[in-house]
Amino acid sequence: MPHKTLTRLPGLADVHVHLRVPGGEHKEDFFTGTAAAVAGGFTTVLAMPNTTPPLVTRETLHTVQKQAQAEALCDVHFYAGASADHLDELPALAQETVGLKIYADQTYGLLRIDTLATLLRCFETWPRGKPIAMHAEGRTIAVGIGLAATYGQRVHFCHVSRADEIELIAAAKAHGLPVTCEVTPHHLFLTEADAARLGPWGDMRPRLATQADVDALWAHIDATIDCIATDHAPHTRAEKLGPDAPPGVPGLETALPLMLTAVAEGRLTLERLIELMAHNPRRIFGLPEQPETWIEVDLDATYTLSDEGLHTKCGWSPFSGMSVRGKVESVQLRGLPIFTEGVIIRSPERTRY
Ligand code: DOR
Ligand code: ZN
Ligand code: ZN
Repeated sequence: MPHKTLTRLPGLADVHVHLRVPGGEHKEDFFTGTAAAVAGGFTTVLAMPNTTPPLVTRETLHTVQKQAQAEALCDVHFYAGASADHLDELPALAQETVGLKIYADQTYGLLRIDTLATLLRCFETWPRGKPIAMHAEGRTIAVGIGLAATYGQRVHFCHVSRADEIELIAAAKAHGLPVTCEVTPHHLFLTEADAARLGPWGDMRPRLATQADVDALWAHIDATIDCIATDHAPHTRAEKLGPDAPPGVPGLETALPLMLTAVAEGRLTLERLIELMAHNPRRIFGLPEQPETWIEVDLDATYTLSDEGLHTKCGWSPFSGMSVRGKVESVQLRGLPIFTEGVIIRSPERTRY
């Protein structure tokens, strides 16, 4: 058999994952979610606060931090959630979180900021210089840009998915405003035609868009887009097949193979992929360095993505059946091997950060 050539890349960082702790452990937990992360080449993930209860108090933060220390296979950092009832917690939460997450539009979970008054309080209270990540769709992005300009706050737009949205963010950046954004693999590789084919397995917020929207995102891959983030949002098969199927799709184990396939097709360079999936996430969210940490990938491995063998508890992927080129072979975190040949390696010293 010909010898595999392995390419070493930095450990990736995903700034948008739902690990479902507390309250949604039947969908995912710190062990299964970070196993999926590591298998996908990520050594750092930023966890979203739309849990049950939501992460809006220091008490909840400290509980999940302890639990992640005990159970997670890679580094997990947390967002604080913005909630009208807990605004007084924000200055203290800011000290121990990577950013404030504001749900400004309708999505899964109860966290939502509905009034302008509360939105303004969030922007007044959150310390300058620390990012405010927004779930904002369509014209709500214009609201976020206005608030970034008015309050001198750094605003990071989650999962940008439409042509007009990415063009507005490009214009805001050209104007010198402190805004950044992420795009998900599902919005780069799937369209509304796939949504029709996939049914609940292709339903998420923001919804899949048109081919013209997808083309616009790719046109901004070298400039406006700062990060590729998965918005890994697992729900069980039973929930997806039920009457009120919740929106969201898993993505941690498919993001890098999909992006490496795009590299093989000449849609972006490997250097740009590393900026989007490792360097920019760390810079934007001020994440700590991880010494002696890397992943090794086989850039030539070609295979078909599948529901089989996934580490995420949900056990399915909207990308199953797609052929990709590029595979994670091994992962080392702070000098310890944590993944090799498809297998997670648990070691007692693994998580010290
Ligand atoms: O599709 C989505 N699912 N979009 C979100 O914003 C939330 C997420 C979830 O938590 O399931
Ligand atoms: Zn969202
Ligand atoms: Zn999300």
